[in-house]
Amino acid sequence: MKRADLPVGIFDSGVGGLTVARAVHQLLPREEIVYLGDTARLPYGDKSPATIQRYAREDLGFLRQCQIKAAVVACNTATAHALKTLRAEFDLPVLGVVEPGVEAAISATCNGHIGIIGTAGTISSRAYQNALLAKRDDLQLRAAATPLLVPLIEEDWLGHEATGLILSEYLKPMQAATIDTLVLACTHYPLAKPQLAAALGPGVTLVDSAENMALALERELSRHDLLRSASSNQLGRVRVHVTDLSPQFEKLARRFLGDKIHDLQAVQLDEA
Ligand code: DGL
Repeated sequence: MKRADLPVGIFDSGVGGLTVARAVHQLLPREEIVYLGDTARLPYGDKSPATIQRYAREDLGFLRQCQIKAAVVACNTATAHALKTLRAEFDLPVLGVVEPGVEAAISATCNGHIGIIGTAGTISSRAYQNALLAKRDDLQLRAAATPLLVPLIEEDWLGHEATGLILSEYLKPMQAATIDTLVLACTHYPLAKPQLAAALGPGVTLVDSAENMALALERELSRHDLLRSASSNQLGRVRVHVTDLSPQFEKLARRFLGDKIHDLQAVQLDEA
């Protein structure tokens, strides 16, 4: 099999990275996708950097065994703490979500006031803050850990009144800082876009890491001559693996990807 015909591997701590899988499938429908959600060990957002690096190494080790041609670390926390390690240890293109999100935020902002929301791990790593300031040192940044959002999304509580209250509490400092751009620095947050937009009001652009990640992957595959050829008009399959398969995951996964999921199964990871 030609290397370009091999699948793209995508991993996340759980279901949120399916937003990236969906964006990749929409932009590059011919690509085969192998997804791994480490649902048994979710959340990554409050773990130490050393643990996240170990988990990320095991996640990518699993995908590597599936003969992938390139990997996407869809998890922001894993990108923030483990991308460098993974790139050093694995001999294949490995993309993370921080860089594409940073580029999109810089193109989106007019007043240079940018908000960033993510897990405690992502925000405390300063990965987004440093990457943004490295590109434009005049930016005014307001970063906040918003740890309640992942469980609210996982529990399907977005429509709940309590979620609206929590969001306005989280976003008050962002509004006071007159941000015009908010980076959704967590895999799950694109799912809360309507609620975030409603809480922020008009005039704030939401930067979605999923869409930007898909564009960055397209550029990277084409740079390495690894895009699946245009002559292959077959739709790529999406195979989903999880370390714990709960009915809740299955429901969310089907909501994200519907009939695009070709296979959904529980797997065990080898320890690194
Ligand atoms: N996937 C994680 C992220 O993007 C959010 C969920 C978790 O904490 O594991 O940071």
